[in-house]
Amino acid sequence: MAAGKGTRLKSKRAKVLHEIGGQALLLHVIDAATQVVPASQIYVIIGHQAEMVEQCAFATGVNFVRQPEQLGTGHAIQCLQKQLAGKDVPEHLLVLSGDVPLIEAKTIKAMQDFHLARQAAMTVLTAIPDDPTGYGRVLRSNNKTDEISAIVEQKSLTKQQLEKPELIKEINSGIYAFETEKLFAQLGMLSAENSTKEYYLTDVAGLLVAAGEKVVAFPSADIHEVLGANTIAELMQLDAQIRLRTAQKLMLQGVSIYSPETCVIDAKVTVGADTIIEPYVQLLGNTVIGEECRVRSYSVVQNSTLGDKVLVRNGCVLDGAEVSDGALLGPYAHLRPESQIGEGAHIGNFVETKKVRIGKGSKANHLSYLGDAIVGGGVNVGAGAITCNYDGKHKHTTTIEDGVFVGSDSTLVAPVTIGEGAYIAAGSTITKDVPAGALALGRSYQTTKPNWAEKRKKKTDCD
Ligand code: UD1
Ligand code: CA
Repeated sequence: MAAGKGTRLKSKRAKVLHEIGGQALLLHVIDAATQVVPASQIYVIIGHQAEMVEQCAFATGVNFVRQPEQLGTGHAIQCLQKQLAGKDVPEHLLVLSGDVPLIEAKTIKAMQDFHLARQAAMTVLTAIPDDPTGYGRVLRSNNKTDEISAIVEQKSLTKQQLEKPELIKEINSGIYAFETEKLFAQLGMLSAENSTKEYYLTDVAGLLVAAGEKVVAFPSADIHEVLGANTIAELMQLDAQIRLRTAQKLMLQGVSIYSPETCVIDAKVTVGADTIIEPYVQLLGNTVIGEECRVRSYSVVQNSTLGDKVLVRNGCVLDGAEVSDGALLGPYAHLRPESQIGEGAHIGNFVETKKVRIGKGSKANHLSYLGDAIVGGGVNVGAGAITCNYDGKHKHTTTIEDGVFVGSDSTLVAPVTIGEGAYIAAGSTITKDVPAGALALGRSYQTTKPNWAEKRKKKTDCD
């Protein structure tokens, strides 16, 4: 169920599109679901911002059901029933909530097994949180069995139930297993006569019991898995939870993460053993980091691949970069998309790279811009040297062959090629190709006037 607006988030964006752990809530739920059933048997109910929600989940291969008006969770499943009419429906149906994103496949499977073993018409995944406020409450038939008599929404609790929350501590997670036919038989009986004028899926529990069917509770082993995200504050709590989970997983694989609570590591990031992540580091998107690397504080690495033994010094920003083994970055280097840094290369402080291939062992250690360039191996790029890649209309390529020495503060006006082993004198503006082994000077010759300072002093003294 992913059609709701998420009014309590106070956001323009549909709730299930909000992200935790670097990924939309809905995708977390689909990730778990596809480990239990194939995507072709999953139906995502969409309504609010349907196009965007569909686009977000399209690549997963799931099916979509439109709920044109969001009249409640019961109505959402009625829309599914309508879409499945006349089709072969599976005997059992698992229902997940798009805003309960930490649910894990193993818990869904355990609930499914329990549901089948108990031969229940409906199984409700439940939990006992510290604070049940806001959740639907599960009324057990008696405290000896796992059977329940009904689910009561927070807004429908009686005065007595509200005053004594300890009476019903067990909450409904919004995750269920149903015998499909028995569920579908009751959906038409739902009424919207309640304070929110919505059709509650939770009312099906009471209806099934009234029809003599068995409805059971399956308590979740991990309370965090069933927490819902209804407000931004709750979302941030789940985000911290999922990131801690990712950090713990990485630490079990031999990664040292200092102060993991200060780091932001997305769920899909992988890091090799013996790598050290310092405090306040962000590793985002599809980042892959090799073994024995060190990422120093305040660096943000996004959708980038780092080989082994790479040192990322403080304050680097990497986006879509590929860095080979033993390279050394920063402090304060900015590697933009399509930066390929060769083995053992150095990209130093305040160096910006973009769409550039830098060869083995080459160095650009200070204050440079290297964009739209091919740089060979063993090249030394002096402080402040830049590639002028843009003529105001088009981008052009600079080629710097192996072993070139680019003097400090040179400007290489592309398109231009510097041949193997050539030298560029410091402060040169290079507009023409330089052949291999040559020295190119592109600056005016120096004029020196001996004793000028003394003469000037005398002149000003007379004035
Ligand atoms: C629901 C349950 C509540 C449970 C809680 C657990 C009902 C009536 N209540 O409450 O018992 O404790 O989840 O998190 O089901 N949705 C639709 N179409 C709609 C309305 C909602 O697809 O018309 C989707 C939402 O996008 C969301 C999910 O269903 O992903 C749950 O809806 P929400 O409004 O958040 O229900 P809760 O009030 O949290
Ligand atoms: Ca909810």
